[in-house]
Amino acid sequence: MAYENIHVEMLGTVAVITLNRPQAMNALNAALMADLKAALDDLEGNPEVGAIVLTGNEKAFAAGADIKEMQNKSFVDNYNGNFITKDWERLEQCRKPVIAAVAGYALGGGCEVAMMCDFILAANTAKFGQPEIRLGIIPGSGGTQRLTRFVGKSKAMEMVLTGRMMDAEEAERAGLVSRIVPAEKLIEEAVKVATEIAALSRPAVMMAKETVNRAYETTLAEGVHFERRMFYATFALSDQKEGMAAFAEKRKPRFKNC
Ligand code: CAA
Repeated sequence: MAYENIHVEMLGTVAVITLNRPQAMNALNAALMADLKAALDDLEGNPEVGAIVLTGNEKAFAAGADIKEMQNKSFVDNYNGNFITKDWERLEQCRKPVIAAVAGYALGGGCEVAMMCDFILAANTAKFGQPEIRLGIIPGSGGTQRLTRFVGKSKAMEMVLTGRMMDAEEAERAGLVSRIVPAEKLIEEAVKVATEIAALSRPAVMMAKETVNRAYETTLAEGVHFERRMFYATFALSDQKEGMAAFAEKRKPRFKNC
């Protein structure tokens, strides 16, 4: 399907979604977020797709929600229109793995969208920040909550209260990104990792994602209990039998995603 504000490309079993408003540093306007939601609906329903990479361009992953589009909104516009909740949260509900490949600016809503993905691969040029306070607002798509869980209270508070950006090195040290790759290798690396994940048992991957995400939503004891139940459930997959048989027989597994 063709979209106006994003590109979607299939590279084998991996779908690469590229945010495409370069004239506005990929600012996330309503039309772009509607495109992103529609693309995720489509890709989740497509059995050819094993994993998704979400990226921007070399200057910006995304410089946040579109300030010019939002500047004249009222409280009632936001509330009645269900701003953010309406389309943005589709990403965190995606059951297939989504890797954010971030080069350049990931600011405000851009940083928040990256944090909604399963993990962030950063180019050495990446810059992360929650600059909303400088606009007289606060983060609105989970930044106060997710950034704090990623990097801890002190750093999150400093970033949210001052709007200061972190570079890729600091983001890796702080645990915001899984690793840093040279900018020119970013997409290649992201697609490589996504392809590796897509070759594994799809239901096991989805169960692993759901279980890790449970760590953010519950107590340790309840999270471990949930994990144990999901672990037991993986033994209902024929992929579990295949994966273990392949190990014992010293061969590559042939997963059937069931
Ligand atoms: N919304 C709308 N337009 C934006 C934008 C945004 N978030 N970010 C950049 N643009 C536009 C600029 O207005 C400019 O457009 P024009 O050429 O028409 O003037 C174009 O993109 C290029 O930007 P700059 O000229 O500013 O480029 P730069 O290299 O000098 O600076 C930047 C880059 C540091 C990212 C700077 O553009 C910037 O600070 N952007 C705003 C970042 C921001 O405040 N983000 C938070 C938004 S609020 C939010 O996201 C709320 C939420 O939680 C949901």
